[in-house]
Amino acid sequence: MATDELTITRPDDWHLHLRDGDALAAVAGASAAQFARAIVMPNLKPPVTTVDQARAYRDRVLAALPPGADFDPLMTLYLTDNTSAAQIREAARSGFVHGVKLYPAGATTNSDAGVTDIRLASAALEAMQAEGLALLVHGEVTDRDVDVFDREKVFIDRVMIPLRRDFPALRIVFEHITTMQAAQYVRDADDGIGATITAHHLLYNRNAIFAGGLRPHWYCLPVLKREEHRRALLEAATSGNPRYFLGTDSAPHAQRLKEHAAACAGCYTAPHALELYASAFDAAGALDALEGFASHHGPAFYRLPVNAGTVTLRREPWQIPESLPFPGDAIVPLAAGETLQWRLVARR
Ligand code: NCD
Ligand code: ZN
Repeated sequence: MATDELTITRPDDWHLHLRDGDALAAVAGASAAQFARAIVMPNLKPPVTTVDQARAYRDRVLAALPPGADFDPLMTLYLTDNTSAAQIREAARSGFVHGVKLYPAGATTNSDAGVTDIRLASAALEAMQAEGLALLVHGEVTDRDVDVFDREKVFIDRVMIPLRRDFPALRIVFEHITTMQAAQYVRDADDGIGATITAHHLLYNRNAIFAGGLRPHWYCLPVLKREEHRRALLEAATSGNPRYFLGTDSAPHAQRLKEHAAACAGCYTAPHALELYASAFDAAGALDALEGFASHHGPAFYRLPVNAGTVTLRREPWQIPESLPFPGDAIVPLAAGETLQWRLVARR
């Protein structure tokens, strides 16, 4: 008989965009309803580049949570060409900064202040390696002459392999992996590496962007890939290998900026994240692997305790809302209006 109810240790989201101001207030509760903690991305305008900015942002996140919410935002710094070793040491000792994000300049939303040449970040990387502070990598090259569907694969050879050769003890998360090459690289690499995988990359291939017309709500970066890649990611996520863990990359943008001539990249999955993951694992016949991926592997990598408490999912059809409130506009969640077969029914 198929499992109809699943109770797992309370999970965490190891890659999340919470934005700021009114947008933060609109989305923070959704993540707190599902997850105990989240690694909060620093790509604000302006980016979170200092420990003082990260502390102030953390306070704004906590203030935006609904009353009684029990949610710990794990902050990150945005690596630039000018990040100093002293800033890294301060971050490592702060107690609330858990990683430093590498955005190759121009790779994605608000990445203009990112690293133009990884060699310029050497002093910071050296300090991170010494302090054990993790580097969180958006793994895509930005060269205009590299096909957008190949930018992750090319990044492995051009940046990731040399980086790990130069900083062998640097702890790295290969964020939101989207290709079989990245999944294989992470599986076979030397210790000290992990990878987050989104729900949408487990559920969809690139056909979703073009099904019946151009569908901007399925547009994110790194972009969805071919079916063979989706299958490889699903195999990795459900394998039980502790190097792979849950990171939604939920990236809210106002409806008018998604349904736009130059649509913003990002899928909004925070409100139904666990249900999306459960659907993907269920379809692979691997619900028993969900707890490790969602609740155990991330804390092990980040050297944090596993959460107390549980969440319960039940097999019960429900419809994803067509739209949700967002300041001055609305926000369209991924797969809006579609029916999911799993529902989060309890949190203890
Ligand atoms: C993210 C965003 O909007 O901040 N967009 C996305 O498509 N994932 C940035 C990112 O993580 O690349
Ligand atoms: Zn992201």
